[in-house]
Amino acid sequence: MKGNKHPKNDTTINPSANESITDVLARIDASRRGFLKSTLGASVALAAGGLAAAGGLTWSADAAAAPVPASNGFGGIGFESIPRKLAPVANSVEVPPGYTVEVLCPWGQPIMPGAPDWNPDATQNAAVQAMQMGMHCDGMHYFGFPGRGGPSSVRGIMCVNNEYTHEEILHGPEGLVGGSGVTIAKVRKSQAGHGVSIFEVRQAGGKWTVVRNSAFGRRLTANTPMRVSGPAAGSALLKSKKFDIQPGASVENGVNDGFSAFGSHNNCAHGYTPWGTYLTCEENWNGNFGWNASDVLNTGDAALDAVVLNNQNRYGVVQGGFGYQWHVADPRFNARTNPLEPHLYGWVVEIDPFEPQSKPVKRTALGRFKHESAQVAVSADAAGTPNRVAFYMGDDERNEYIYKFVCARPFSPTNRAANRDLLDSGVLYVAKFSDTPVPGKAGAFRGTWIALLPDTLSIIPNGNGGFWKLRELKHFSDAAADGISEPNDAKVLANILIKTRQAGDAVGATMMDRPEWTALRTYASATNGYQVYSAQQPLEVYCTLTNNNRRGGGGALSSNSPAGTTAAGGARPPVDVANPRPDNDFGHIIRWREDGNHVTATGFEWDIFALCGDTLTTKTLAANYLKTNFIGVDPTDVDFNRKIYEGDIVDVPAGSADFGAPDGLWFDQFGRLWIQTDQAGDASGDFVNVGANVMCAADPNTREIRRFLTSPRNCEVTGVVNTPDGKTMFVGIQHPGEDSTAANPTQFSNWPQSQFDRTSGGDFLAVVGGVPQGVGANIRPRSSVLVITKQDGGVIGG
Ligand code: FEO
Ligand code: CA
Ligand code: CA
Repeated sequence: MKGNKHPKNDTTINPSANESITDVLARIDASRRGFLKSTLGASVALAAGGLAAAGGLTWSADAAAAPVPASNGFGGIGFESIPRKLAPVANSVEVPPGYTVEVLCPWGQPIMPGAPDWNPDATQNAAVQAMQMGMHCDGMHYFGFPGRGGPSSVRGIMCVNNEYTHEEILHGPEGLVGGSGVTIAKVRKSQAGHGVSIFEVRQAGGKWTVVRNSAFGRRLTANTPMRVSGPAAGSALLKSKKFDIQPGASVENGVNDGFSAFGSHNNCAHGYTPWGTYLTCEENWNGNFGWNASDVLNTGDAALDAVVLNNQNRYGVVQGGFGYQWHVADPRFNARTNPLEPHLYGWVVEIDPFEPQSKPVKRTALGRFKHESAQVAVSADAAGTPNRVAFYMGDDERNEYIYKFVCARPFSPTNRAANRDLLDSGVLYVAKFSDTPVPGKAGAFRGTWIALLPDTLSIIPNGNGGFWKLRELKHFSDAAADGISEPNDAKVLANILIKTRQAGDAVGATMMDRPEWTALRTYASATNGYQVYSAQQPLEVYCTLTNNNRRGGGGALSSNSPAGTTAAGGARPPVDVANPRPDNDFGHIIRWREDGNHVTATGFEWDIFALCGDTLTTKTLAANYLKTNFIGVDPTDVDFNRKIYEGDIVDVPAGSADFGAPDGLWFDQFGRLWIQTDQAGDASGDFVNVGANVMCAADPNTREIRRFLTSPRNCEVTGVVNTPDGKTMFVGIQHPGEDSTAANPTQFSNWPQSQFDRTSGGDFLAVVGGVPQGVGANIRPRSSVLVITKQDGGVIGG
């Protein structure tokens, strides 16, 4: 997310010395001009008060495209790219002809027994919010109920992350700070709007419905009791102040034991396990902490204070947070007076959707950072042992790292209970992308997974011609200085997992352009699901690198200090082969193939799948960028400036699927890669030619991409999953109306009411004073899960 309560680190760079669009046309080869002229026509129409609200461009006859053919495990793409949506962005969601899109579950939808209907004035309290769909949906998964032929495609449990809240829309006319100000009642509602929503869905007669009174309906919020497990559980760093969490106050009551925690929040993307559990990933959790100017950090232990301050700096815990102000009314979230509490966040949390009474578990073995997603892969290992399991994970902050966690034991496909604590033991690795070419494969390079274990060597010289081991560094040994070896493996490992970023720094991991989702390649022809890999069907993982305005370019360059002292997002590293563009406005997608097609491999081959961009860009490089600093583009090329920002998206005709800021990423069961974007939702700045946010589908063999869905204005598209038969797709639309005020919550948007008046199940979206509201009524915007079906009953995308 990059909405109202998110660090605005996708700020675009103002173009300088722009070329005119006519200049661009004059430069570009003739084969592209048919497309470009149609765009120019639309731009001119826009400038004259034109027609983009009607849906943007229309394609010339030669733009009609044949299906993308099936090939090597890829099922093909059967739809044509739909038009981009330029500013002013139409406030609706669009899909190709032949598809139907409906609202399945908006913010405020009742999802459990006793939950009231949503009240459009948003004055309902925390207790009501905690029985309804939370705000700002993100990663999601569908768990079909077991049936004779496998998991059901008409009845299942949806697990949906509720990443964050828009306080001005959440709290009714007062907003967070108006009226009585920041109160515990408002903080509790905000906390109840975060977390995870779990609800049952059914399809009957072609209509999908949220089952309001399902026993599986459940909410996890920022206050739900949870268990902490794995190597870091019980660490002294996790023994924060304990509070009795009451509706009207958090009352201090002793000290936590390091094995328990309350709540999960800022859960962005997600994962799932082969044994049928859901993983929710804590991303921008740091932004919910804060403190008052007069608060002093004093645990009574100066050494501990220094550790806490380093951790808060490295993870971006700052006085004002992102503006939630929870600490004003809830002392649990005061990072000065309860300074160990942030250590209880930044984890992957495992949830059993089929056991509504089960306690969620924070799995510390997977490391602590700003988790985006946790994508599972299963393979045999080099010894031939089947069902080895790994999870691929990104840390979404500028210049952070990509990780994988390999479970110590194989999973059991036949004994679910045997997998219950599989995520508690294994090895966490961090990725190093090298510039060593792979012989005979143009554009492919080598990479290594570095195990974050006590005996792993850091890149910090020890003064004797060698390097310190992690166990000899003060971060992980609790010593006052480097060089003192800590003999206790368990203690060192706990410190590595709580200070995962510092461990990545110490081993010299590759700083990436904001890793968002990871996606495991699937193969339509595989007979045993995704667990069959070979030279033709490799174990291949993709990751979106959404953007980075602190990469190369102007200003002093610096890397994350191996000593772990760099502030979150504070470095500005030079460009490198894996992150080749300065001020990477449009982002890219990287992929890697594990050696031997084993999840346990410690080496891999990688290449860049797509450099996102704008075919029509008029952007030019700032004067302080040296052309010689760039990798991958010939500095003598007369078209150098355009190529930097144009990207290399493969689409027909060129430019027809342009996008930027890739974020959501998922392979369906037919080998199609779905890409979702999170860029300027009003199609402004760098995105004036690209238009609104989108979801595209890609062919992993040829890299051809087509646009499937365009977003309402001011929204991000995030979260996607299919039913097992592929005939229903669920997609999330997040933060419509971002930046609007409490006094005018519909200032920028009334979506979904702008487009719909009922859910797919037939309920009215909004009822005011007993009167159902029609399409276009002035109702506050609501993030929503959509349901997409094909009118001929076919597979989505095929
Ligand atoms: Fe919440 Fe990294 O997007
Ligand atoms: Ca995002
Ligand atoms: Ca995201």
